[in-house]
Amino acid sequence: MGEPTAPAKSLADLRSRRWFADAGMRGFAHRQRIQQMGLRRQDVLDKPIIAIVNTWSDLSPCHAHLRERAESVKRGVLMAGGTPMELPAMSLGEVMVKPTTMLYRNFLAMEVEELLRSLPVDGAVLLAGCDKTTPGTVMGAISMGVPTIFCPAGPMLNDRLVRAGEPSRQIGAGTHTRMFWDEMQAGRVSADAWIDLEARMTRSPGTCNTMGTASTMTAIVEALGLALPGSSSIPAMDAAHPRMATRCGERIVQMVWDDLRPQRILSRGAFMNAVAVQMALGGSTNAAVHLIAMARRAGVALTLDDMDAVSRRVPVLANLFPSGAGLMEDFYYAGGLPALMQRIAAQLSLDELSVAGGTLGQALAQAEVRDAEVIRPLDRPVSANGTLAVLRGNLAPDGAVIKASAADPRFFKHRGRALVFDSPAEMARACADPDLDVDADTVLVLRNAGPVGAPGMPEWGNLPIPKKLLAQGVRDMLRLSDARMSGTHYGSCVLHISPESAVGGPLALLRSGDEIAIDLEARSLSLCVADAELEQRRAAWVAPVQPYSRGYTRLYQQHVTQAHEGCDFDFLQGDGPSPEPAIF
Ligand code: FES
Repeated sequence: MGEPTAPAKSLADLRSRRWFADAGMRGFAHRQRIQQMGLRRQDVLDKPIIAIVNTWSDLSPCHAHLRERAESVKRGVLMAGGTPMELPAMSLGEVMVKPTTMLYRNFLAMEVEELLRSLPVDGAVLLAGCDKTTPGTVMGAISMGVPTIFCPAGPMLNDRLVRAGEPSRQIGAGTHTRMFWDEMQAGRVSADAWIDLEARMTRSPGTCNTMGTASTMTAIVEALGLALPGSSSIPAMDAAHPRMATRCGERIVQMVWDDLRPQRILSRGAFMNAVAVQMALGGSTNAAVHLIAMARRAGVALTLDDMDAVSRRVPVLANLFPSGAGLMEDFYYAGGLPALMQRIAAQLSLDELSVAGGTLGQALAQAEVRDAEVIRPLDRPVSANGTLAVLRGNLAPDGAVIKASAADPRFFKHRGRALVFDSPAEMARACADPDLDVDADTVLVLRNAGPVGAPGMPEWGNLPIPKKLLAQGVRDMLRLSDARMSGTHYGSCVLHISPESAVGGPLALLRSGDEIAIDLEARSLSLCVADAELEQRRAAWVAPVQPYSRGYTRLYQQHVTQAHEGCDFDFLQGDGPSPEPAIF
């Protein structure tokens, strides 16, 4: 349970007073510069300063509405007696940023931590929601430790595909892109229809409307207690969204007076609640990496084994793509996250605190499921297989994950020969080859795609089905990699193999033609090659040459931890406080 009480703060205790109440020349300069921007000296002397950390940019469609939402937050801060200050932070729009936003999650976390530390702020509202902006901003805010509330960007609107002579059907961002692409490769979607889809599948600003990584992570942050109850499910374009943003602004001011810091909220119980939510949602595998990274920032021990244990007892109840059939608007109408959490209340620690000011149990008291097809009852789950299985064996000594709820049960126990690719370019070339030596039982493998190797552990783990097999009607195969997979994707993909091949993990020793065995029930992933042979291969293995001799990417490769450790930088982990900046 989170730390229940802390002494209330008075004006004299505010952190910003170190800047603005200073009687010397520095204090004069700080107040002078504030007045240069048209504010009054009492705006910074008599009120808490609230940072609105905004990840808006013109190249981040998921955050396209966040400039307007910042105004709603400001309104709430002003109404509650605070002074809002908007601070831009790195905007990581998942689709545009190359080679992968994951390369920059830790960069954003560092930026948020240092923004909040270096500036005169007493509390923070985080405006974010795309896959990496949520964990990135939250990780930074945890490490800085000022009272913080997360204001989720909200999912984009649903879309439907309506064609003459066909029943209309829901289509969601991400999930259906790969599905329609495969259909086009197989000749079942025309070039005109493909262009038409380009303009149809993403109808409004907001995050992906499936239960992909974005919706998983904002739900997890709400379950942790860092966002207002119900806030993560509100569609970005619903009128309730700016109202929620205003409430965030009001609430953060009171949180400053109550000294309600993340450290008082983020207990192990809060993290286990978040894991249970991930499993009941059929959430993204990416959450496994981000949850561990956030927990380590908070000084909480959380492991892949914790997630596997929760996945075995919490069934998938949210009937949402890619595990189910609905989209995020459906989830909102059905009652949203509080309703889902009420369904699994017996698995939750209800005494945990939240930014709302009470306990989780209090927050869930009024929740109700309004559509039992979207939020299923416990005796009628979407999948009884669980969301996430953690596999181990001689191919993944430190673990690997598979999204069981989005995989074909045919591959839960499987043995096949490996076809190994060392790069995405090699993979793309091979998969386009109509004569590729491959069948439906082959295990496709991509390596050098982990945190160090790629670098940045991109979402390459949903390896394409070879064109030759698409034409035969094959739509899923067992696929393995040290990469991640988009939370909007589906398929029998074993991901996050740790340690990765680029640092000498056993994946580096694999050769095409070797047999691989998976047994989901036993949670095993094995390379069926004799130990003596593997030792010979290890002796001959040469680490790949990395082209980055300078810059951020070099820093990343030198300090990033492996997937089972959260891929944070080794020097950013831990919950020890950093010193406050000197003011002279
Ligand atoms: Fe931003 Fe999917 S691309 S949430």
